[in-house]
Amino acid sequence: MRRVTAPALARLKKDKRKIVMVTAYDSTMARLVDAAEVDVILVGDSLGMVMLGMQTTVPVTLDHMVLHTASVTRGGRRALVVADLPFMTYQQSVSAALESAGRLLKEGGAQAVKLEGGETVLPQVQALVQAGVPVMGHLGLTPQSIHAFGGYRVQGRGQNAASKLMEDALALEQAGAFALVLECIPSNLAARVTRKLAIPTIGIGAGPKCDGQVLVLHDMLGMFSELQPVFVKRYAEVGQAITEAVSRYGEEVRAGEFPGPEHGYGDKP
Ligand code: KIV
Repeated sequence: MRRVTAPALARLKKDKRKIVMVTAYDSTMARLVDAAEVDVILVGDSLGMVMLGMQTTVPVTLDHMVLHTASVTRGGRRALVVADLPFMTYQQSVSAALESAGRLLKEGGAQAVKLEGGETVLPQVQALVQAGVPVMGHLGLTPQSIHAFGGYRVQGRGQNAASKLMEDALALEQAGAFALVLECIPSNLAARVTRKLAIPTIGIGAGPKCDGQVLVLHDMLGMFSELQPVFVKRYAEVGQAITEAVSRYGEEVRAGEFPGPEHGYGDKP
């Protein structure tokens, strides 16, 4: 089975074929979403909230990301695996970015990294690309800056903010990014950015005109309900199914109905 590559995403855009990206944080989920033939698995730093019970993505460490990325790359075989560079593992310097991305590729087995921000991270993007690391950008609502934004709010509204986002998008493309996540921005702005860029845009809360879409797996499966943004469509109620199944198991154990004879071993081989 041939793995999807970073350059292959540009071909999908050229052929007007939508890119499907979803998060995963462990081997089991990676295997399941890979079987659904997604193009990209994102080991997002959203794992801080979804897997580790944190309030934001800010406390996520590089060790967390390496551990979960290695788990994902052991499970998925086809999709391109992109791992997030967590907060303050790349913003401070080019060398920090190179070292952090190096661990995600060498120890985690990721094929690309994603980082947040525009103009301020261009030297990091250029250096990573020159070093042979495919880089996905991320603009709009960049959750690592949540304390600066003051909450999860739509970004890029108004002429100035929209122009700045467009400039950042073009600069990231120029610096060598192979794709760009656009999070929580007006659909019209996302459509304009998508038309202007040669690299693909992947939207989350950015409307239907992006070249692809990404969702957090646990949101779309109904397994994580702490935040419920309007852009999340729930494709299943797996959380409810888990609670119901485990309750049934509990009832049967307490009633002495489980395990039955078929779940045990006899004396004879
Ligand atoms: O961390 C993450 O899951 C992300 C997506 C929301 C794009 O960055």
